[in-house]
Order: sequence, then structure tokens, then C-alpha cells
Amino acid sequence: MKFLHLFSFLKIKNSMNVADYIKKVPKAELHLHIEGTFEPELMFEIAQRNKVEIPYQSVEEVKKAYQFSCLQDFLDIYYAGASVLLYEKDFYDLTMAYFKHCAEENVVHTEIMFDPQTHTKRGVSFETVINGIQKAREDAKEKYGISSLLIMSYLRHLSEEDAFETLEQSLPYKHLIKAVGLDSSEKGNPPSKFQKVFEASVKEGYVPVAHAGEEGPAEYIWEALDLLKIARIDHGNNCLTDEVLVKRLVDEKIALTVCPLSNLELQVVKNLKDHPLKKMLNLGLKATVNSDDPAYFGGYMNANFLQIAEALDLTQEEIKTLVKNSFEYSLLSDDEKQKYLIQVENFE
Ligand code: HPA
Ligand code: ZN
Repeated sequence: MKFLHLFSFLKIKNSMNVADYIKKVPKAELHLHIEGTFEPELMFEIAQRNKVEIPYQSVEEVKKAYQFSCLQDFLDIYYAGASVLLYEKDFYDLTMAYFKHCAEENVVHTEIMFDPQTHTKRGVSFETVINGIQKAREDAKEKYGISSLLIMSYLRHLSEEDAFETLEQSLPYKHLIKAVGLDSSEKGNPPSKFQKVFEASVKEGYVPVAHAGEEGPAEYIWEALDLLKIARIDHGNNCLTDEVLVKRLVDEKIALTVCPLSNLELQVVKNLKDHPLKKMLNLGLKATVNSDDPAYFGGYMNANFLQIAEALDLTQEEIKTLVKNSFEYSLLSDDEKQKYLIQVENFE
């Protein structure tokens, strides 16, 4: 009887519940738009100090506006929100607020996308944007020990020529930027539209990644692979409509940065129970979990993990695979990856 009691105690101790495991395990975020972390409270504060009008009377009213039926619905509100960001301090405050969430959720490494054109189009300089973000990166490293890198994303609803201009503006800050990405309205703006600017970006030393197959077809994922030579796909859900493509992604270990709550809010899936994340893992796809635009989609990293784990009944082993993938398919050096992977392996 006594032995039995001891045995059950040990068993409980060894099998931390899945929710605790999710919250405490060190993890990396690979798909995050810094403009998508703009919480309504901070938006109001910055709008007031910059004396910029916003079309809302209260935080509640802002939150009520966050009902989206598709990607474009969301993007219209996302660009409107970003329009109150004018000064270096605004970008610093925005980025620091995101790092605080990371620290609270044990996100130890993050790969942050920023959209220079969203700001340069309004007359805010590239320098203002990157200096604010960069200072926050340095402070977050010092204050929280969080490592980060930057992905400069081209807006695909604008022209390739415009993206070339952005590439040019980035060159004095090349040492601060790891990768280039492609985001905004996917349908009607295929990767092929940006083949030349991606080629030029790679020549400058940037690693190419791109959003593909969120609302667009599997064909856009083929283009991202074959024409943009991407190292990783943002979203990628629609690869599942094409068996040959899935095999290629599995064989070449091209990771997908999956965003469950984003997919739910933008109606890529009708219900989290219909989300293909478990299927992706079962097919051997290298999936990761990410928050995309957490201020707009109802949750940061842990909320994404917790809600998808509950909806799909994910096991602790499956969560561990997702977390290991987040480091394995990050853009860190092999040594840095190894350091984090050992931490996850030893975490109990
Ligand atoms: N898709 C495309 N563009 C974006 C997104 C997204 O999920 N978030 C911010 N810009
Ligand atoms: Zn995204």
C-alpha cells in the first residue's frame, strides 16, 4: 500500500501536466509581426502623446472592431492602428511591450518581422523604425536575456519596385537584419511578383522567408520554394491540398510557422478542432506554433499553445516536438540551436 502510494506520487511528479509544461518550457517564436503586437491601451497612449486622431472612443470600442472575416479585413485595421507610430520611442515602447510578454511566457528567442513600408509610406524614416526596435532588442537582451533577430518584410500589395526601394534603404542597417519576408494581401500577389527583389536581397546576405498558402493556393508555396528559394514558410496551411508538395516539404525539411489563433480569427479554419496542426506533425511536416499578431488575434505564444493543445488533444510529446522545432528551424547558428535544444531536452 505504502509502495503504491509512493509510486503514484512519483508518477505525478514526473508527468507535469501539459498546461504547466507549455507555460514553463523555454520556447522560440518564429512568426510575429511587431505591428501586430500593438495593444489598444498602448495605441491610445501613443495616439494621445502624438496628438493623432484614431477612429475609436475607448479601448472597448477598439476591441469590438477586431472581428475579421478574412485577411484583408484584418489588414485594413492593422495598418490603421500602425499609423499612430511616429517616433523612435513609439517603436521602442511597442517592441519592449512585446518582449515583456515573451519574458512572462518563457519565450527565450524570437524572430521579429517588421514592415518598413507601413511606416515609410507615411513619411516615417526607415532609421526611426529600426533604431526604436533595435534599442528594445538590446534592452530585452540585457533585462530579460531574450535573444532576437529581425525579418524585414516586403508588403506584397505594393510593387516590386517599391520593395527594391526598401531593400536599398535597409543597406546601412544590414548588420541588424537577418532575413527578408513577404506579407500582406496574399491573393492576387503571388511570390513570382517578387522574384527579382528576393534574388537581390539574398545577394545582400539576407535569408529569404515568405508568407504562402495562408489564403493563397499551394501553387504560391511552390513559387516561394522555386522562385524565392525560401528557407521557411509562414503559415503554409494550403500545402495540404497537394501531396507532392507535402512530400517535398518533408524531404527538404522546410518548416512551417503555423499560427493557430490567427487561423481561427481570420477564418482560415472555422473551429480550432478542425485545425490541421496534428495532421501536419503526423505527415512529418516541421510545424511550429506562433502568435502572428497577438494583440489582434486574442493571445500570445502560450495562449496559442494552450488552446490548440486542448482543441486537438495534443500530448506532451507533441508539444515537445513543436517546441524543439521552434529552435531547430530558427535562423540561429547551429551552436545556439544546440544550446537551446539541450535546455528543452533537459526540461522536466
Ligand atoms: N498574413 C499576411 N500579412 C500579415 C499577416 C498575416 O498573417 N500579419 C501581418 N501581416
Ligand atoms: Zn504573418
